[in-house]
Amino acid sequence: MCGRSILRGVYFMSVRVVIGAQWGDEGKGKVVDLFAEQADVVARYQGGANAGHTIVVGDKKYILHLIPSGILHEETVCVIGNGVVIDPVALTEEIAMLESFGISIEGGLKISHKAHLIMPYHKLLDQLIERDQKIGTTGRGIGPSYIDKYNRSGIRIVDLLDRTRLEEQLREGIRQKNEWFRKVYDAPELDVEKIVAEYLDFDKRIDAYITDTTSYINEAWRSGKSILAEGAQGALLDIDHGTYPFVTSSSPTSGGACTGLGLPPTAITGITGIAKAYCTRVGAGPFPTELEDETGERLRKIGSEFGATTGRPRRCGWLDLFALRYSAMINGIDELVLTKLDVLNEFDEIKVCTGYEIDGEPVKYFPSDSATLAKVKPLYETLPGWHCDLQSGVSFDELPLETRNYIDTIEEYVCAPVRYLGIGPGREEIIVGDVAMESSAVVG
Ligand code: GDP
Ligand code: IMO
Ligand code: MG
Repeated sequence: MCGRSILRGVYFMSVRVVIGAQWGDEGKGKVVDLFAEQADVVARYQGGANAGHTIVVGDKKYILHLIPSGILHEETVCVIGNGVVIDPVALTEEIAMLESFGISIEGGLKISHKAHLIMPYHKLLDQLIERDQKIGTTGRGIGPSYIDKYNRSGIRIVDLLDRTRLEEQLREGIRQKNEWFRKVYDAPELDVEKIVAEYLDFDKRIDAYITDTTSYINEAWRSGKSILAEGAQGALLDIDHGTYPFVTSSSPTSGGACTGLGLPPTAITGITGIAKAYCTRVGAGPFPTELEDETGERLRKIGSEFGATTGRPRRCGWLDLFALRYSAMINGIDELVLTKLDVLNEFDEIKVCTGYEIDGEPVKYFPSDSATLAKVKPLYETLPGWHCDLQSGVSFDELPLETRNYIDTIEEYVCAPVRYLGIGPGREEIIVGDVAMESSAVVG
């Protein structure tokens, strides 16, 4: 399944966290799949089926929502960590999708018994709350499920193992939520018996994969295995550090990898930030470099910017280096992967935002509140385009001068090296920098 090795000579030791450095959809699926070639374990640590991670291999396209993006590599063990919220329907569909491609998860998937379950009432609530709140959620029940988790009333994967207790918990959970639906939303009640039957059946199907992933992953780390922690969403959607309240309900930032997997911070040896060569955002919330004009439309068209989970058109804009520098700071990014560089191939000029101002005054720090962020005026630097197709198999030195200049500007501003360039959706469409080849042999 792995095919030819693209990352010849590149080894990832210990624990590398791979995160989205913007508002999600940066190309995490593609990059994690690529890195997974060298990993023993790939572990998702937060979010749920709100994620849509795309991997393109030849003429096949896989969109993963819950299963880690290392699943195409037979030798790699995939872990769904305790920080993830699991929708049985989405997981079952995903397993079936993979099986239809001849990919078996047998022996290759481990699900944390501490992960919380998404219930049908979470999905319904997500949609009902959205009517007033207008965050533009994916409607996958993510927020309401995390609410129950932090309210200490959630149902976890481990609860599936005790059928009697599960039935009691389900009945109580559904009873409470039905009361809410009736009183607060005047919405129809959910069918208790149907849901109980569905979850008991789900238990039968995933029983073999449920395990203590915290112990598994710690033992893997201590025995020197290479582990990739796969983030979903992006740093600017982080519940604490993102553009609150227009965020998701978990911690996509690198710190989330520790709590979401049960790995100590001392285990983490490197953090890869994935950034698109421009910016996109799905759903509501401030987006300083958004282009609501022909150029934005051009980016959407060339980049096929439509959500992998909901199909919604993504909002598009220029690369925001001020936001990316903030992202690098809160995540501790030590290398960048710049994806979708090919989308800019035919642009005459490319802008990058290098600062914000409000009422003519420069903004010093990335604003902590969305109302302020919505007011900023982005300050741009204009760089020349390169007008050619970028080819894999070349070194960074062989890139057109203008492309090199674009990368240098990013590196200088963000203070992190760009080590990989995405030049197409396919697995092989990547340019690996010389530095990655040399230094990743010992990157921890
Ligand atoms: P993720 O959520 O971060 O995994 O990203 P998505 O899968 O939601 O969206 C990224 C989209 O861009 C997918 O359709 C990928 O196949 C595609 N993609 C990834 N890297 C590249 C690249 O370097 N160039 C182009 N043109 N497409 C890419
Ligand atoms: P991946 O992993 C892009 C956005 C939604 C909405 C906000 C809250 O594919 O990058 P939620 O359903 O999480 O409560 O929605 O977060 N969002 C994403 N945007 N990519 C994602 O995942 C996203 N997951 C959630 O559009 O604005
Ligand atoms: Mg996505």
